[in-house]
Amino acid sequence: MREHWGSTAGFIVATIGAAVGLGNIWRFAYVTGENGGAAFLLVYLACVALIGLPLMIAELALGRRASADAVTAFQPGAGPLWRHAGWAGVVAAGLILSYYAVIAGWALRYVFGAATGGLWQADAAGYAAYFEGFIGHGMEPVLWQAAMLAAAALVVSGGIKDGIERLNRWLMPLLAVIVVLLAAFAVTLPGGMRGVAFILSPDWSALSRPAVYLNALGQAFFSLGVGMAVFITYAGYLDRRTSIPRAALAVAAGDTAFAIVAGLAIFPAVFAFGGDPAAGPKLAFITLPQVFAQMTGGIVIGLVFFLLLAAAALTSMMSLLEVPVSVLVHRWQLSRARAVTIVSLAVFLAGLPSALSYGLLRHWSIGGLPLLDLVDQTTSNILLPLAGLVCAVFVGWRLKPVVALTNADLGMTGVGWIWLWLLRIVVPATIVVILLRSSAWR
Ligand code: PHE
Repeated sequence: MREHWGSTAGFIVATIGAAVGLGNIWRFAYVTGENGGAAFLLVYLACVALIGLPLMIAELALGRRASADAVTAFQPGAGPLWRHAGWAGVVAAGLILSYYAVIAGWALRYVFGAATGGLWQADAAGYAAYFEGFIGHGMEPVLWQAAMLAAAALVVSGGIKDGIERLNRWLMPLLAVIVVLLAAFAVTLPGGMRGVAFILSPDWSALSRPAVYLNALGQAFFSLGVGMAVFITYAGYLDRRTSIPRAALAVAAGDTAFAIVAGLAIFPAVFAFGGDPAAGPKLAFITLPQVFAQMTGGIVIGLVFFLLLAAAALTSMMSLLEVPVSVLVHRWQLSRARAVTIVSLAVFLAGLPSALSYGLLRHWSIGGLPLLDLVDQTTSNILLPLAGLVCAVFVGWRLKPVVALTNADLGMTGVGWIWLWLLRIVVPATIVVILLRSSAWR
């Protein structure tokens, strides 16, 4: 008997859990900071509405139609080319998970650092040294990476309803409350309003930088979680009662709201204490702890922040893990427990170079990028858009319009056709243009 979600609400919460993760907090903050704040946010919102949302609907429709895994979903009635197309998303999910677990491990390490007090330093320079000391320390990052993967594996081996859905049901509402409280506190800091202005009142000159568009698209893919077959996989356990467009809207809105509120927690704090919003990936790990240390109550806030980061990462890791797991369970008839073990071990090994990329392997870089950054950039900016392209073309052109429209619960309506044409033309064209030009821009 194929597993199913317990309810529509359970499915939606789990899917928001997949979408909300490091991408909404760690990545959103630094990418927005580096790309000019509010103007970037607008391009980002356009990417979510015109590209992310239509693709998400396509993935959900494809997954529920097949009621199977992400590879099988491309197969019914499809020619030889499509037989293997689904692997693009499965490989993307595995690769993302490999380095995602490493950064989630950093977050977990910081939870302990904040709790035991080891994180709090005497001066600003101490924070950089603390971070670099940790990520450069022999095997330590590997231990935390393994701990996060083990936690995700434990939940996923519990199954769809009793594992993934159950954990998300109580964890996600809690995270929403925490992030709102953090933001409410941050915006009232003296000087915090400059941080609010930074992400809400646009500096239009940022729009003249072409890289902003590539980064916005990459961030939209990453944060929504499209292109990685997660939605195909999760919808494979969905029944016909759930409305796909409504579910997709809820997930996209929830994900975007979470990112903005997290930004309202982070930037006011950064501005109030003179941090640099364009500090890059180290924003959350070096700049923020330094900021927390200066606030009244900052020690508790810091602890709560890193707990939030680690927990949000965990629910996303579960979804990424489920993608290859469901392929093994469905196609190779492995037991869930065995599939989870095999996939987590493989992902752990694949993530070792990332885990060691600032330590033992720090002299290995490709094109000037440390290994972890290399995997991050190639997967988010290239592999995800490509896997998204495959899905858009399949649902937009390969399926008959009535099949696509009915499976997406849109029917032959005006909105339905708008969706289909976005998927047919706007989504692929934007992806191709941005991919082609990105090589020239860098
Ligand atoms: N969307 C998640 C985040 O924002 C990451 C993720 C990507 C999760 C792909 C699932 C699939 O962190």
